[in-house]
Amino acid sequence: MTHRVRNSSAPAESRSESRIPVVVVGAGAMGGGWLRMLRASPHARPVGVVDLNLELAAATVASIGLENVVVGDSVTDVAERSGAEAVVNVTVPQAHRVVNEQALRAGYPVLCEKPLAPTVAEALRQVALADLTGGLLMVSQSRRYFNHLAAFRDAVGELGPLAAVHAEFYREDHEPGFREQMAHPLLVDMSIHHFDQLRYLSSDEPVAVRCNSWNPPWSWYAGDAAAAAEFELASGARFVYSGSRCTPGLQTSYNAEWRVYAERGAAAWDGEQVVQVDFDGRGAEGAERAGGVVADRLEGIEGSLEEFVRSLRDGTTPQNEVRANVLSLAMVEGAIRSSERGGERIVLAELLEESLAQAIADERQNDIADLLRSWTSAADGISTPAWGSVPATPAAIAEETPDDH
Ligand SMILES: NC(=O)c1ccc[n+]([C@@H]2O[C@H](COP(=O)([O-])OP(=O)(O)OC[C@H]3O[C@@H](n4cnc5c(N)ncnc54)[C@H](O)[C@@H]3O)[C@@H](O)[C@H]2O)c1
Repeated sequence: MTHRVRNSSAPAESRSESRIPVVVVGAGAMGGGWLRMLRASPHARPVGVVDLNLELAAATVASIGLENVVVGDSVTDVAERSGAEAVVNVTVPQAHRVVNEQALRAGYPVLCEKPLAPTVAEALRQVALADLTGGLLMVSQSRRYFNHLAAFRDAVGELGPLAAVHAEFYREDHEPGFREQMAHPLLVDMSIHHFDQLRYLSSDEPVAVRCNSWNPPWSWYAGDAAAAAEFELASGARFVYSGSRCTPGLQTSYNAEWRVYAERGAAAWDGEQVVQVDFDGRGAEGAERAGGVVADRLEGIEGSLEEFVRSLRDGTTPQNEVRANVLSLAMVEGAIRSSERGGERIVLAELLEESLAQAIADERQNDIADLLRSWTSAADGISTPAWGSVPATPAAIAEETPDDH
């Protein structure tokens, strides 16, 4: 087991209770979204913007009307000059690891957009990086933060052991840029949300997957925009997933449409505001009409930011601390590997161990490589969070009063 420490960027008691000054790295479409949100956030304020494309960074800052913001192309330089205390990484997935490493090595905790990395091997290198620096590295899986998803999770919790979870995602999704060039734009860029939501809904973790992906003839994506996957969960239950990003009709929510079948009954969520639960013979009812509690907490990236800032202040472990996210990413890579091998069954524990060997082979930083080699297994490496002594479970967060924000 490795020794885990916290660095000087961490202590809660030394932080001011005002809005945390942050640098946003990546001033593209989503970086602009983060900056607009941060401008009005009660939890953090933007003090710096970084992009390799300086003109774009300056234009994004100007279009949002931000003032007194340091702009540059170096994370460490802008963070230092702006007096930042944390970094929000909204670059393309291929750049996530490099940017996270620059920030964490300089002592800045990072909230990183999904997907954490293009591969599980790259994700494991970042787990070791977080270990070494002792800084908080949290993945922003923003689709965990929806009040009706929390209500659906509560409903699922009433149902007893699971038999099957179904999720369907069908959208006509035009997002020119890196997505339209990816080999697996659905699984890598979008399904990571849904796979992670599955892990939020239940502690019944995925162990194996069979998947087929394909690209419909009319698709505007270069890679596979559609997929069908079946995951085996630890209990023996199944997670049955299908999706497409080029479906111009009867579109689902971006959160997907969900149904859960279990020992005592069933529950459904339309991905928006309708949660239904039918258990112990009561018949399906809307959660709100049935007296179910729908919380009123911050949603999406605001919810994710709120948890990040709270973890910095309290030293608690956020739901998506880097280690916890690795299995969500393994679901994506397992599905891709299965699809590329004609639907072969992929065992996620084996994929994790192969990824550790790959991570060690790829890593050029001796301290990170040595730490990876010291793990008895990938499962060991992702078992203990580097950050925080108190795990922030979704249930614990839900129990907090809305007054917290
Ligand atoms: N949570 C969500 O719902 C959601 C939605 C959209 C995008 N995203 C995620 O946000 C991230 C960015 O997506 P986007 O649509 O804004 O992409 P984008 O291509 O529009 O913008 C990415 C920006 O990062 C910059 N960049 C690349 N490498 C960099 C580096 N090393 N240093 C500094 N800047 C660098 C690019 O110049 C570009 O301006 C992706 O990880 C994506 O998956 C999440």
